[in-house]
Amino acid sequence: MSKNKHEKVEKHVGWLAVFAIIAISIGGLVEITPLLFQKQVQEPVRDLKPYTALQLEGRDIYIREGCVGCHSQMIRPFRAETERYGHYSVAGESVWEHPFLWGSKRTGPDLARVGERYSDEWHYVHLMNPRAVVPESNMPGYPWLAENTLDGKLTARKMRAFQTLGVPYSDEDIEGAQAAVQGKTEMEALIAYLQSLGTALR
Ligand code: HEC
Repeated sequence: MSKNKHEKVEKHVGWLAVFAIIAISIGGLVEITPLLFQKQVQEPVRDLKPYTALQLEGRDIYIREGCVGCHSQMIRPFRAETERYGHYSVAGESVWEHPFLWGSKRTGPDLARVGERYSDEWHYVHLMNPRAVVPESNMPGYPWLAENTLDGKLTARKMRAFQTLGVPYSDEDIEGAQAAVQGKTEMEALIAYLQSLGTALR
C-alpha cells in the first residue's frame, strides 16, 4: 500500500476498525478452527476419572473460596515448570472441567498435580492455618471449612448437569451422590478434591 492509502486507513477510525476486525478474525480462526477437529484436545487422557460426589463438592468449595485467585492449575511445557510441578498439563485432562480452573495468577504454587503429594493430615493442618506448616506462608487460613457440613441436597443435580455436558456419570453414581456427601465436612470435600488433582497423568 502506498503511504497515502495507509495514512487514510490510520486516520479514519471507521476503516481502521474494519481492518482491525478482519485481522483479528483471521488470527482467531487460524487458532480456534483446528481445535474443533483435533482428537487430542477432545479425548480424555486414558486414566481420567470423573470427580466423585465428594470431590465435586470440594471443587465447588475451591471455587467459592476463590483459591483460583492465587493458584493456577496449568503447568506449562517449560523445563522450569516441569521440574518443579511434574508433567505439563495436557488438554485431555480438562475435557470434563466445566468451567476449567486453569487460572493465571500464581501468588501460591500451581496445583495442577498437587494430588497425592501431601497427606490428608498435612492439607488439614495447612488449610486450618498455613503458617503451622509453612512459616513464611501468606495464604489465609480456612478454619470454618472444618465446621461446615454438607447436606448433599444439590449434589445429584450437579452431577446430572455434568452428565448432560458429556461427563460419563452412571445413574448409580448419581443416585448415591447425596448419601456419599451427607454429613461430611467442607474440609473433607476440599481435601478429597485436592488429592485428585493431576493424578490421571504422571
Ligand atoms: C492470597 C493467596 C492465596 C489464596 C487465596 C490461597 N492460597 Fe494456597 N497458597 C498460597 C501460597 C503463597 C502458598 C505457598 C506457601 C504455603 O504452602 O502455604 C500456598 C500453598 C498452597 C498449597 C500447597 C501447594 C504446594 O505444592 O506446596 C495448597 C495445597 C494450597 N495452597 C491450597 C489452597 C486452597 C485449597 C485454597 C482455597 C481454599 C488456597 N490455597 C487459597 C496462597 C494462597
